[in-house]
Amino acid sequence: MNILKEEGLPKSDNIVWHQASVNRESRSIERGHKSVIIWFTGLSGSGKSTLANAVNIALFNSGISTYVLDGDNIRHGLCKDLGFSDFDREENIRRIGEVSKLFLDAGIVVLTAFVSPFRADREKARDLVGKGDFIEIYCAADLKVCEKRDTKGLYAKARKGEIKDFTGISSPYEEPEFPELIVNTGSETLQDSVQLVINKLIDMDIIKDQKN
Ligand code: ADX
Repeated sequence: MNILKEEGLPKSDNIVWHQASVNRESRSIERGHKSVIIWFTGLSGSGKSTLANAVNIALFNSGISTYVLDGDNIRHGLCKDLGFSDFDREENIRRIGEVSKLFLDAGIVVLTAFVSPFRADREKARDLVGKGDFIEIYCAADLKVCEKRDTKGLYAKARKGEIKDFTGISSPYEEPEFPELIVNTGSETLQDSVQLVINKLIDMDIIKDQKN
């Protein structure tokens, strides 16, 4: 299925970009923080969703506009037509990249929690937005740890061959080469991981340090 006429170009000819009346900068001034895409990547069971949701709560409690896009949830709606072939995963991440870009424009700190196993797909999502708008966070947890956790029982099924193309077992996971942050979700506490992400947002001047 070729969704795009040519890579990067809309399928239709007769569409014209409409400039928004309220822009990202004015939203940022009004809200007192910048918007950004925080892109968590890692194996299934590495703690992406847990971390994204914990960061979400911490930010929300500080009055920051946030939203979490989560793999399992998005696959119930926007991406429910997609499976786990390489092509479907690429399309999954392409859609999430585009949706995240809209959230960015809406002045929101968007946290995405997708396995997003392929480097090239993550890079395409990064390239949709400006420098500094995309924070890639690698949730580094050994396959052994994720498989031992097996919170959804999927690794056991994958090992038995009941799920095909399962990341880490029968489909590859390409570790990020230059992520903005690596969080050792396999060993450190959730509290420590949350703090690392918050510190990164402060360092990058996305949010203000509440202590000052
Ligand atoms: S991605 O590869 O396209 O980024 P996504 O994050 O949307 O994947 O979905 C991954 C989630 O779907 C996993 O956390 C797991 O619960 C479930 N899942 C079901 N089948 C697979 C599979 N074959 N590979 C990886 N995850 C799977």
